[in-house]
Amino acid sequence: MMSAADPNRLKLAVQKSGRLTEHCTDLLVRCGLKFSRGKDQLVGFGENMPLDLLFVRDDDIPDLVEEDVCDLGLVGLNVLEEKRLEWIARGHEPKFTILRPLDFGRCRLAIAIPEEMAWSGIASLQGKRIATTYPYVLDRFLKKHGIQADIVTLSGAVEIAPRLGRADAICDLVSTGSTLLANRLREVETVLESQVVLIRTPVAIDPIKTEWVERLLMRIDGVQQVRESKYIMLHAPRSALPAIRQLLPGSESPTIIPLEGHPDRVAVHAVCRENVFWETLESLKAAGASALLVLPVEKMLA
Ligand code: PRP
Ligand code: ZN
Repeated sequence: MMSAADPNRLKLAVQKSGRLTEHCTDLLVRCGLKFSRGKDQLVGFGENMPLDLLFVRDDDIPDLVEEDVCDLGLVGLNVLEEKRLEWIARGHEPKFTILRPLDFGRCRLAIAIPEEMAWSGIASLQGKRIATTYPYVLDRFLKKHGIQADIVTLSGAVEIAPRLGRADAICDLVSTGSTLLANRLREVETVLESQVVLIRTPVAIDPIKTEWVERLLMRIDGVQQVRESKYIMLHAPRSALPAIRQLLPGSESPTIIPLEGHPDRVAVHAVCRENVFWETLESLKAAGASALLVLPVEKMLA
């Protein structure tokens, strides 16, 4: 019987429960993966691919991949960059590779201060205490700006540090901004822009597993491409074609089909690599198009 401990199966680390979990499993499902995961189970067994998901703390993902416990990992750049700087500070040269930046989990590491604190630029941080769970990224930022400040390293609940008198400002992750708002903190400076990235082990992956890594990458690219893509169909007089082609957003070469019984009219079908907004449809109509139809694209393979 095949099990998740099988060395011929790929192991991909994802966040156990948090902001990124659903986005990550959603991406993999869109790549065709069917997996079963019992309640409270650490492993999601891939039923139709030799790929298993390991549900772990996001902070552990870089180590698991760097140490080749997992072949692949999906992790926020914020966590990855903090680890990378920490390893370098401890004399370990990181060897993992980023395979793909992915278009989700966007957030930023930012400096925030109590609403009532005066702010006249980064210099206002001089001599202050800043609480964070990202001491290495913060330290690099402060050095870059020539600021001397005390970094108060916490393991969580950073947003309440100013209220408890433990710090004057914080450096924390901001996604929607609601945590800051709830704690009467004001975002003043971006330290790092983050999104999810797919990373791989520095150790060679065996050929059979490599083939699956490549297939997965191709499918991820396909999923990323169709996210914004639309299939558009319309009718138009031949004479309006130059104007219509100009209006179709991000489409290379539309298919032109003659319309039975209407020698001067054609049907135009095109894949648009961008979202098609009402404004575009209105412009197309004004240019002579009719019978406009916009469809979502589900899968795409170049
Ligand atoms: C971050 C951060 C804040 C919150 C901000 O935690 O520590 O608490 O998200 O999000 P908001 O701007 O939408 O309110 P995260 O969920 O990444 O968990 P972790 O840092 O404990 O891994
Ligand atoms: Zn975390």
